[in-house]
Formats: sequence, structure tokens, C-alpha cells
Amino acid sequence: MSADTVISCKNAWKIFGPDPEGYLKTLPAGHSFDDIRADGYIAGVKDVSIDVSRGEMLVIMGLSGSGKSTLVRCFSRLHDITGGTITVEGQDIMSLSEKELIELRRNKMGMVFQSFGLLPHRSVLDNVAFPLEMRGQDKHARRERALEVIKLVGLEGREDYFPRELSGGQQQRVGIARSLAIEPDIWFLDEPFSALDPLIRREMQDEFLRLQAMLGKTIVFITHDFDEALRLADRIAIMKDGAVEQCDTPDQIVLNPATEYVRKFTEDIDKARVVHAGVLATSSDNGTGDPVDAKASVQDLARLLVQDTRAIIPVASDGKIVGGMDRAAALEILLEAS
Ligand SMILES: Nc1ncnc2c1ncn2[C@@H]1O[C@H](COP(=O)(O)OP(=O)(O)OP(=O)(O)O)[C@@H](O)[C@H]1O
Ligand SMILES: [Mg+2]
Repeated sequence: MSADTVISCKNAWKIFGPDPEGYLKTLPAGHSFDDIRADGYIAGVKDVSIDVSRGEMLVIMGLSGSGKSTLVRCFSRLHDITGGTITVEGQDIMSLSEKELIELRRNKMGMVFQSFGLLPHRSVLDNVAFPLEMRGQDKHARRERALEVIKLVGLEGREDYFPRELSGGQQQRVGIARSLAIEPDIWFLDEPFSALDPLIRREMQDEFLRLQAMLGKTIVFITHDFDEALRLADRIAIMKDGAVEQCDTPDQIVLNPATEYVRKFTEDIDKARVVHAGVLATSSDNGTGDPVDAKASVQDLARLLVQDTRAIIPVASDGKIVGGMDRAAALEILLEAS
């Protein structure tokens, strides 16, 4: 764990069933998810170790029921883990008192739930202002801030509506606005854009990236949508049966899948859009001539890769040569896509 680790999760388990703690103590090593199920238990989170760094956007992906929501709920101790440890800013969250936990959630964490979690008897404005009220902000400041974020999510004019008067996508936007209102340091978002139309979804992603560039929050973001993951993620964790199969950068996930499952999961992805020159700059030879930018994807470089005759093309990051890219290897990735 480095000094810049915000969330550190070590061998965490969350088992559902009649006596999870007792069961975990006697659990034979190597028991699979199905073995555990045969014993009458569900391994919502199965021996997960993962660190989240400050300012990082970690995206969690996996099929329905793979444990994404459960894992993120453990990070904020909405679930008590059955085994292992989770620390947030160096504090073991399982050792916090109820009061300390509420403080931590109120001051540091923002959450957007899959099920929206809106208060039905409060208007849009009062829902969004609610966490500010909990923080003890005065009414005027609350209202100003709430109006600002309501506008940001495109719900201007609906401040006085009640959740039941809104569509699913609109309710989701209220949930997003509410969590944005407090500008949390650590932000948990469970499929926040899933109920939005594609166009609004893309706008929200852009808005989200813009906010992230400005505020540099630590974010754990759950999504089913690989394109969304690729747009947003610094790293992607792929879950299956409660376990993290691989946690790595998008480039590494598509180039070097750790398991057969990850390979299958990512096989339809257009690698040329995901893999960047910087990652391919592995040759010991830096090449000569004009460099390409490390941040350019193979797709961005398609024309050059086809027309350039150099075997090794230099790659530069912030104007400095970082290595050479084997053009044939890059072309291979490009051709695979077609
Ligand atoms: N409170 C609970 N009690 C018992 N089992 C639970 C509970 N919460 C989750 N589970 C089980 O844990 C597993 C993981 O559920 P989870 O909600 O984390 O999946 P998910 O990856 O978020 O799925 P989705 O993509 O559908 O939201 C599932 O098998 C689920 O049935
Ligand atoms: Mg879920």
C-alpha cells in the first residue's frame, strides 16, 4: 500500500447465508463459488485484494450477479465484510464506531446507487440539498448549490417535482446531482448512467470526465458497458463469481488478458481503439524521425501505420522520446479489428 492509496482492500470476503463468519472459518482452501453455493452460501465478494489510488478512476465490470455492487458496498461499509480488511485513508473501516462511520460517509464519500435511493416525499430540490442539510449548511447556500447541480444534470425547471413524477433516467440524474452536491473526495457510482438515453449518457460521461479533470476525485464506478468503461477508466477490474479476475489498465486487459474468462469478455472489443502507442513503445530501439504521441491510439495512427515505411517508430510523451513502437505489431492490432 503506497501513501497515495485511498482504499485498500485485502483478501476481503462477503458471504451471505445463515452463519457467514463461522462458515468462512471452516472454508476449505480452493472451494469455488459453486462449492460454496452447494453449502448454502453465496460468495458475494470472494477473496478480493485491490487498491485504489488517489485521483484514480477504477471501473468495475462483470456480469449481473458477479458481485460488483456488493464489493462497492463493502468499501463504504454498507455491508460488513465477513473476512479480510478494508482501509479507507489508512483507517480500518471495520473498527470505526457508528458515529465515525457516519462522519466518514458524510464528509468524504459520495454514493450513487443503482436503485437511485431518492426520498419519495421530497422534491427534486430537497433531495439534492439533503446531504448539504445533513452537513448543517444554511438554507440559502444549500439551495444555491442544489440549483447549480440540478442545472448541470439537465433538470432545470423540475426542482419542485417529486421522484414519482419523473422518469427512471430523470430520477437517476437526481441521484447523480445529489451526490455531486457535496463534492466528495471518494465517489462510488453504481451504474449511474444506465437508465439514460445514449445521447444524454454520452453528455453525462463528458461532463463526468470534465469534472474529474477539474476535481481529481478518487472514483469507483460500476458499469455493464465496455465502451463506457474504456472512455472513463484508468483501470478496469473484471469480476466473476465474487472474485476479481483481473484489474489492470484497459490496454493491458485487451492485450494481455489474465484468464480465459477475461479474454472472452473482451474479445469483441476493438483493440485498435483501446491500445495506445505509449504501451507499444517497448522496443529497445527508439527508431528515428518524427515521433508519434504516446496517447494516440492505434486507431488514431491507422493512416500513418499503413503509409509509413519505418520498422520502428519513435513514441514521445510530453515531447520526450519514451521508446520505439514496432510498426508491424501495431499493424497487427489494427488488422485484428477489421
Ligand atoms: N443482501 C443479500 N443477501 C443475500 N445475497 C445477496 C445480497 N446481496 C447480494 N447478494 C448476492 O450476491 C451476489 C452478487 O450480487 P451483486 O448485487 O453484488 O451483483 P452485481 O454484480 O452488482 O449485479 P448487477 O449487475 O445485476 O447489479 C448475487 O448472487 C446476489 O444474489
Ligand atoms: Mg449491481
